[in-house]
Amino acid sequence: MHRVIISGIGVEIPEPTITNEELVTSFNAWVDMENARRQGSDEPPLAKSDSDFIVHASGVRTRHVIEREGILDPTRMAPRIPVRPDDALSLEAEFGIASARKALDHAGLKPSDVDLVICSASHHQRPYPAIAIEMQEALGTKGAGFDMGLGCSSAAAALHMAVNLVRSGAHKRILVTTPEIITGHLNFRDRQTHFIFGDASVSMVVEGLAQGDKRPGRFEVLDTRIWTQMSNNIRTNLGYHTRTAQDDPYMINLEGNLIKQVGNKVFKEVTVAGQKFIVEFLAEHGLTPQAVRRFWLHQANARMNAMILKLSFGHEVDHDRAPMVLERLGNTAGAGAIVALSENHADMKPGDFGLICAFGAGYSIGGALLRML
Ligand code: COA
Repeated sequence: MHRVIISGIGVEIPEPTITNEELVTSFNAWVDMENARRQGSDEPPLAKSDSDFIVHASGVRTRHVIEREGILDPTRMAPRIPVRPDDALSLEAEFGIASARKALDHAGLKPSDVDLVICSASHHQRPYPAIAIEMQEALGTKGAGFDMGLGCSSAAAALHMAVNLVRSGAHKRILVTTPEIITGHLNFRDRQTHFIFGDASVSMVVEGLAQGDKRPGRFEVLDTRIWTQMSNNIRTNLGYHTRTAQDDPYMINLEGNLIKQVGNKVFKEVTVAGQKFIVEFLAEHGLTPQAVRRFWLHQANARMNAMILKLSFGHEVDHDRAPMVLERLGNTAGAGAIVALSENHADMKPGDFGLICAFGAGYSIGGALLRML
């Protein structure tokens, strides 16, 4: 059994940003148009969105997105991303590769050193050929590639898999990539969810710890774990059977098939499950939360993370112990906890423990206990 490290981390954040105020202005302009259309009909008028509510309820102030103009156009309210020819690199592979190149540079490796690519995201652009195989070809990595996903726990679940494949000797170096283009699937006309998500791509290189490895500042992965329990409280029904329920199967009806969530139930249920997961996972290693220098938690809701930590520690915990990137980036699904890790570990000392813990749709939770080399 090999000791396993994360030897490289890469993050790619798209440049365009959208503030809460911009998003709310566009949403409310659409509500005005929609309510004018509904006047005199049986359909009830829609309520407007509010940027103060968004900051208070979620902690999000801005989000970075792949394409902004289409989202903010009240007559469209979705990113405008042109179709590419089949022989051009797809957007998801391109986004994944951007963070993958940074992770490989950070690890000091060439693409040909990698023998498996796992592309794990909450939404994939297509089912096949796998995005990971497209990345394998474009980067020039060896071996194989496959796609997987576990909602917002996608990166943590792929890390779980990669660590165990390296530990067992099945693969030498694995590139784990989580390109989250979640705005493509978001219903920007849904007041409950239109403000939550942003786009981001993260990659990690996972490999065995070689004797005398001279790359300081890397983390050994002591253990990983995943947990799931069925819930419909975060769900998308868009898929290859969507059309089979329709009279015209060649015109896809998106109504009701995009992401929906019962936010307050998710908040309560995942907070309880997340706290239990963290305390039990650490206890298995003879650790308490107090022994962990830094927590890189899923970035969905600032109040939710504060609550999980308060329940775990028995008191409030500051951002130095559990940094947030949510305010600036929104919820970037599987990518969020790894962005937090990438931006917040340079000050850690050899021997310090850190915990990645992501949670979300499924329900699912994924964790990795790290120790700085
Ligand atoms: N603008 C203004 N008011 C809004 C609003 C908006 N955009 N969206 C909802 N509201 C209103 C609701 O209508 C409700 O009004 P009422 O009390 O008059 O009925 C009120 O705000 C509270 O709604 P609720 O849904 O209970 O809000 P909340 O405090 O739970 O916050 C979330 C909503 C989504 C921010 C929060 O539940 C959350 O983040 N949950 C966790 C989500 C999560 O972790 N998801 C994982 C995905 S990876």
